[in-house]
Amino acid sequence: MNTNDNSLTSRRQFLATAGGVAAASALTGIVLPAAHAQGSDQIQLAIVGCGGRGGGAVVQALSTKGPIKLVAMADAFEDRLKSSFDGISKAMPAQVDVPQDRRFIGYDAYKKAMDCLKPGDIVILTTPPAFRWVHFTYAISKGLNVFMEKPITCDGPSSRRMLKLAEEASAKNLKCGVGLMSRHQKPLQELHARIQNGEIGDIILMRGYRMHGPGGYFESGPKPDNISHLDYQVRRFHSFLWASGGNFSDFYIHIIDHLGWMKNSWPVKAQALGGRHYKHTAEGAPAIDQNFDNYSVEYTFADGSKFFFDGRCMTGAKGIYSSYIHGTKGYAIASRANDCGGPSAIYKGQDASPANLVWQSKDTSNPYQNEWDALVSAIRNNKPYNEVKRGVEASVVTSMGRMAAHTGQEITYDEMLNCEHDFAPNLMTLTSSSPAPLQPDANGLYPIPMPGRLTTKREF
Ligand SMILES: NC(=O)c1ccc[n+]([C@@H]2O[C@H](COP(=O)([O-])OP(=O)(O)OC[C@H]3O[C@@H](n4cnc5c(N)ncnc54)[C@H](O)[C@@H]3O)[C@@H](O)[C@H]2O)c1
Repeated sequence: MNTNDNSLTSRRQFLATAGGVAAASALTGIVLPAAHAQGSDQIQLAIVGCGGRGGGAVVQALSTKGPIKLVAMADAFEDRLKSSFDGISKAMPAQVDVPQDRRFIGYDAYKKAMDCLKPGDIVILTTPPAFRWVHFTYAISKGLNVFMEKPITCDGPSSRRMLKLAEEASAKNLKCGVGLMSRHQKPLQELHARIQNGEIGDIILMRGYRMHGPGGYFESGPKPDNISHLDYQVRRFHSFLWASGGNFSDFYIHIIDHLGWMKNSWPVKAQALGGRHYKHTAEGAPAIDQNFDNYSVEYTFADGSKFFFDGRCMTGAKGIYSSYIHGTKGYAIASRANDCGGPSAIYKGQDASPANLVWQSKDTSNPYQNEWDALVSAIRNNKPYNEVKRGVEASVVTSMGRMAAHTGQEITYDEMLNCEHDFAPNLMTLTSSSPAPLQPDANGLYPIPMPGRLTTKREF
């Protein structure tokens, strides 16, 4: 297993530390409901999407300070819920109170799990991102605080919907965390402050890389007969653009997000390359997923400066998974390994030799725990907290690079946000017998991006 596969595994490990305190107050000038479950310090938690990340998020939530317990679980599939329940119960037995009648299965299970909560409790949304806006809509209607994993949108229509929902959540004084954990990684916070202080001068170039072997559900062989197209696509969501934005959005958003943060702005346009070199599975069957196995994106900021991002899922090719910032006075390593792995560092000039080292971070706290400590602290102290708008922007910038590669066109931020291609229009009313958002051709193959050959308004 290479470093990058290890990182995928470690993100799924159950980790624990602490944070957060109690108290509630109203916001100045507006009468809003208390931020957490009325009449008690006890916060109840439900999870929708009981996979690897969801299990990790539950354990981190249960590791924050103050009384908190898991009371309901929902998943599209029984096997996934069962293994998650077993893992979480083993890791945090005293804080899991999820009897059989609060374990819900199916595409409408999310409603039943959220119905078990009171306003001010927390729901964790860790399904594939396509469902985020559907589940967030219901969470807001129930007055729930939310933690949702990244990416939070995959296409233009859902990005526009999520921006509106973000405003509705704030208007209801709901606290919303988004799993772009780089923002809670202390070395990157310190690096950001130092860059704002001018320690590397003006940023003129940034570079990001995520290149490793096929991970997650990057690649998929032909659908077996004993599963519907819908369930196959949902289970193997990294393979399908409607479900996840593909491996591009799912894997690359972290580095794209934290480099945008370092620059204090988002790129305004992108042009990109990508292709499918090896599209057979290890067993030699045709790979029917929609992903390219390499991508190379040139993002441009409003001031003309550039950010180059390279992504690759290819066994045997060199692995690079890190991010860098070049300024007029110096050079910074943001993530040394993985999505946000320290230590971050600043060097004089452009040469990262030890003699040029100006600063290196020391903090090793877990950003996945930090993001939960911050969210629960905001809930218990009734402080404004909503990361959704920023999460949508990071998702749109990521989709802009992906769409540039898939169409072979230059794509601006505004074009991506306003793109009319709705990848999955029927999700609000989805049932297990609904047609899958992506339909196969007569040979069982799904449409794939064809840069230059399809219209410039759609990726597939
Ligand atoms: N922040 C990070 O570093 C990080 C790491 C891993 C995953 N993630 C994100 O977390 C999300 C989940 O990823 P994962 O790796 O846990 O995947 P996973 O496949 O392990 O888990 C997803 C779960 O959601 C369930 N599900 C799918 N559709 C559903 C629906 N409509 N209703 C209820 N349940 C449904 C699946 O059955 C599965 O159990 C993705 O958005 C991913 O990008 C973030």
